[in-house]
Amino acid sequence: MIKDVSVIGLGKLGASMAAVFAYRGFNVIGVDVNERAVELVNQGKEPVQETDLEKYISENKDRIKATMSHEEAVLSSDVSFVIVPTPSDENGSFSLQYASWAFKEIGKAIGKKEGYHNVVLTSTVLPGATRHGLIPILEKESGKKAGEGFGVCYSPEFIALGSIIQDFLHPDFTLLGEFDKKSGDQIEEIYSRVMMNDAPCKRMSLENAELTKISVNTFVTTKITFANMLADLCEKIPGGDIDVVSDALGTDKRIGRRYLTGAIGYGGPCFPRDNVALSYIAKKLGLRTELAETTDRCNRAMSEKIVEKIRPLIKTGDTVAVLGLAYKPMSHVVEESPGVYLADTLSKAGARVVAYDPLANESARAALTGNVVILESLKDCLDQATVVLITTTDDEFKRLKVEDLVKEGETVTVVDFWRILSNELKGNSSINYFAVGTSSDDLANQERLNDLWGAAATVSA
Ligand SMILES: NC(=O)c1ccc[n+]([C@@H]2O[C@H](COP(=O)([O-])OP(=O)(O)OC[C@H]3O[C@@H](n4cnc5c(N)ncnc54)[C@H](O)[C@@H]3O)[C@@H](O)[C@H]2O)c1
Repeated sequence: MIKDVSVIGLGKLGASMAAVFAYRGFNVIGVDVNERAVELVNQGKEPVQETDLEKYISENKDRIKATMSHEEAVLSSDVSFVIVPTPSDENGSFSLQYASWAFKEIGKAIGKKEGYHNVVLTSTVLPGATRHGLIPILEKESGKKAGEGFGVCYSPEFIALGSIIQDFLHPDFTLLGEFDKKSGDQIEEIYSRVMMNDAPCKRMSLENAELTKISVNTFVTTKITFANMLADLCEKIPGGDIDVVSDALGTDKRIGRRYLTGAIGYGGPCFPRDNVALSYIAKKLGLRTELAETTDRCNRAMSEKIVEKIRPLIKTGDTVAVLGLAYKPMSHVVEESPGVYLADTLSKAGARVVAYDPLANESARAALTGNVVILESLKDCLDQATVVLITTTDDEFKRLKVEDLVKEGETVTVVDFWRILSNELKGNSSINYFAVGTSSDDLANQERLNDLWGAAATVSA
């Protein structure tokens, strides 16, 4: 039974994975090219910020060590999980630059090793990348053949930043692309000792697993985009309410409620790039993937549409507060974040913009290019603002009360993308409240429908 594993790449995913393996009793040797990350792990500290990561690393310190030497890691383990970056390139493909370098080092070490070594790629790649891009590197550097001297799997994780450790321990399923049965058997057995919920293991070819991985995000983002389209429609229907519609739709087992909450566009380090990657590979294979392209286009257009919608609500002299700069609640990640886009775009259009996020202020400072003033407290932000945009469902925002928002002698406008303050603010006369995805002017919406059906009724009569 395998006890010794190595994890190559101690970033957000890799460090969490190393911590989980150690927590579940494996001896783990982590590798990173970043000396600081290696030092921190060896001190029992987290090399990156992630929920409970420091706790899991420090409590299992005797079973985790880190090194900068791929050779040391390969020689002292039976399996290497490789989780290095695969950044999107300008075409939307995933660059294998870091993975190739890691595989080169691993290959050299396998060449020096007596026994069998299994290499598991976890990073997101396009179909064919493992077999045709990376296995040849291992074979060349080791002088051995895949399936003889070493095994290869492709096994990505389905995790969300902020809950990586729990997601890893309790996945819906594990996805295992295998070069051959031997390598797959070994990894399935390891997973059965790591995962705490008997999740089914879906075993398949390397290519099918690579495609499944990017398809999950492509599907989920399509669902989000569908819900956002419905939210737009609800705003134009008297009494329209996206939550009512989504709750009913989501009850249908074929659809499901998750990711059907119409609100704001999706962002983050994973979602936006997988549709683009799927379209890229399809084009390369002579196919058309209008669906994935349209989802991406709709999502990018969404932020622009929101700015157009909000602009008439902003009067000269108003200060706009953007609450929520991370791409999702309780996160410090601002990559492709709608909050950052809104703050930046409104500020460049001449509005005075202040902003606040419970965790992402620091990363947002680096990402914002306009004159947005990032403030250290929610109260500071609200004290200055006459227009408030709530872009995430952070608990701090959910707890807001009317008295936190109102100002003497002024009407404050609140645009609530996730409708988290509906109960508190709806109907309050001192607040101009817009719950995105709901009808805010039933009369105007009624008239529009009346025009449409009244005219039809006249024609048919
Ligand atoms: N972050 C996510 O939410 C997420 C989710 C699913 C999949 N992924 C995929 O997982 C992979 C890693 O993502 P991440 O967020 O952990 O990245 P990250 O940038 O946080 O970490 C990558 C780490 O790899 C190290 N590294 C780079 N080259 C190396 C090498 N040759 N040897 C050893 N270490 C090396 C870097 O120094 C860094 O510490 C990517 O392919 C990403 O697409 C990420």
